Amino acid sequence: MRRKIVAGNWKMNNNQSESNILIHSIIEKNSENSSCNIYVSPSFPFLKDAVLTCSKSNIKVLSQNVSHLTNGALTGDVSCTMLKSIGINSVIIGHSERRKIFGETNEVLLKKIKICLENNLEVFFCIGEEIEARNNNKHFSVIENQLKETVFMLEKIDPKNLVIAYEPVWAIGTGLTASPEQAQEMHKFIRQKFTEKFSESISSKLSIIYGGSVKPSSAKNIFNQPDVDGGLIGGASLNANDFSDIINSI
Ligand code: PGA
Repeated sequence: MRRKIVAGNWKMNNNQSESNILIHSIIEKNSENSSCNIYVSPSFPFLKDAVLTCSKSNIKVLSQNVSHLTNGALTGDVSCTMLKSIGINSVIIGHSERRKIFGETNEVLLKKIKICLENNLEVFFCIGEEIEARNNNKHFSVIENQLKETVFMLEKIDPKNLVIAYEPVWAIGTGLTASPEQAQEMHKFIRQKFTEKFSESISSKLSIIYGGSVKPSSAKNIFNQPDVDGGLIGGASLNANDFSDIINSI
């Protein structure tokens, strides 16, 4: 059985008290949930508080980013060993905003993936195509290339420490969700590529989640697809009711 996952990607939102209130509210509304793994991702300054608040709950804390090195002269960066030292065990890598705004290439993303896995951090690795690629029927080759230049460079993978988030860039924050059929088609393709590269026994255990304008109204139909194992939720994860409705759609 694959893990079902609903993770909130808070991005650069919520100050300390807003972050606290939201986490408490998510814990309260979802304390009985055992059907999926639930994650929240406050910004760096609030991660330690979040770890403490969530420690006795079923909610896990996810970092939105990490450095590609463990220490050194990298002003403003935060390393995986620093994250581990405050109890963080999971990290988002390769979000399209990091790729586009901060120029993170597949090369640097591969370094981040490697260093996280070496340090026993679970990686949520994001991939996704731009609208031009989809319009030109190049979406499959773009995704395959993103995989080839990153996770497929690894000798082996463990589905316990790796989650793939398929996030079509044209659907992120735009209100344009991929249709359940578009999501299923791409998730199936991704799983097939993992089968070819590694093995069926690995790909069948790999959680592949969908991200891009998932709302309470659209979650159920997307999550019902056989190769969709949950979601990475941006905007709707900032509201405890909406996020909990999405969690309950699993
Ligand atoms: P969105 O963001 O749900 O607001 O589209 C998803 C993401 O960026 O992970």
